[in-house]
Amino acid sequence: MKVEHASVMLDRCIALLSPAIEKSSNPIVVDATLGLGGHSFALLEKFPNLKIIGLDRDLSAIEKSSARLAKFSDRTTIVHAVYDEMPAVLKSLGIANVQGILFDLGVSSMQLDQVARGFSYSNDAPLDMRMDQSRGVSAKEVIDSYSRNDLIRIIREYGEERFATRIVDNLIAAREKGGINSTTELADLVKNSIPAPARRVGGNPAKRTFQALRIEVNQELEILQRAIPRAMDCLSVGGRMVVMSFQSLEDKIVKKFFTAATESKTPVGLPVEIEALAAKFKLVFSGSEKASEQEIEENSRAQSVRLRAIERVAI
Ligand SMILES: C[S@@+](CC[C@H](N)C(=O)[O-])C[C@H]1O[C@@H](n2cnc3c(N)ncnc32)[C@H](O)[C@@H]1O
Repeated sequence: MKVEHASVMLDRCIALLSPAIEKSSNPIVVDATLGLGGHSFALLEKFPNLKIIGLDRDLSAIEKSSARLAKFSDRTTIVHAVYDEMPAVLKSLGIANVQGILFDLGVSSMQLDQVARGFSYSNDAPLDMRMDQSRGVSAKEVIDSYSRNDLIRIIREYGEERFATRIVDNLIAAREKGGINSTTELADLVKNSIPAPARRVGGNPAKRTFQALRIEVNQELEILQRAIPRAMDCLSVGGRMVVMSFQSLEDKIVKKFFTAATESKTPVGLPVEIEALAAKFKLVFSGSEKASEQEIEENSRAQSVRLRAIERVAI
């Protein structure tokens, strides 16, 4: 059975956060990517003393999750914020640290389903792709105003697209003839830029360019770079953070910070660990976990997930 809007690796996220929640009599979890509130709902149901601080940069996610979590409104604080603002949000709420943090990165299936948002290459819509439609620059503005070199870099790096130069040259040519104005026009241009043999493998050829533009429009990687270390600083001792990434560039960033934070800074060769230089975090398990075959069958979004978890062990 296919499940719409199912929360990815829900049971695993709860199992990983549970030991940290159970250690406190007044536990708080930050759901940094509230979305439709699926993970938060399950956590609030399981732990009657748990408070959730839910963040999302998308006002329509805030509206929908507020309705979904209404029965827990006395234990839920929902804030329209970008997740690298987490320390400031917690400070404004008078919270010094939290027991759990969850990041379920990327776009939600709700955002993909809202055709007018322009995230999907399968439906005709204006080229917007902003998760926060109250501010920022749209995909159309990126395509219309960025230099050739910047567009090539973005599509090559963020989309891991080997035909980036051809795509951008066609985009620049289209710009001179009135521009690209819709998702369908962009999807067609990408398809026509890719040599026929390459078009036949790896799914819709527009997928990589759409991913690249979405990452740029929402500054996803820069924000994640700031957000992960800031969020780790918000954890109490014994607190845990779980991060689910859906593409390799995100997972690389998470892995980099987790690896650095779990290594001792005591110089190699010293016979004893210097306490002040000992690692303040430990990995809950090594490497990353994937969703089960069964979950992937039921929810295609789970296909690319890589889950990592870290625990704070010292101040
Ligand atoms: C995959 S969904 C989360 C789904 C949620 N876990 C659930 O079970 O319903 C990701 C959400 O994160 C939000 N988001 C993405 N980047 C963000 C950022 N930098 N700051 C805050 N929210 C962000 C998106 O708007 C989206 O609603």
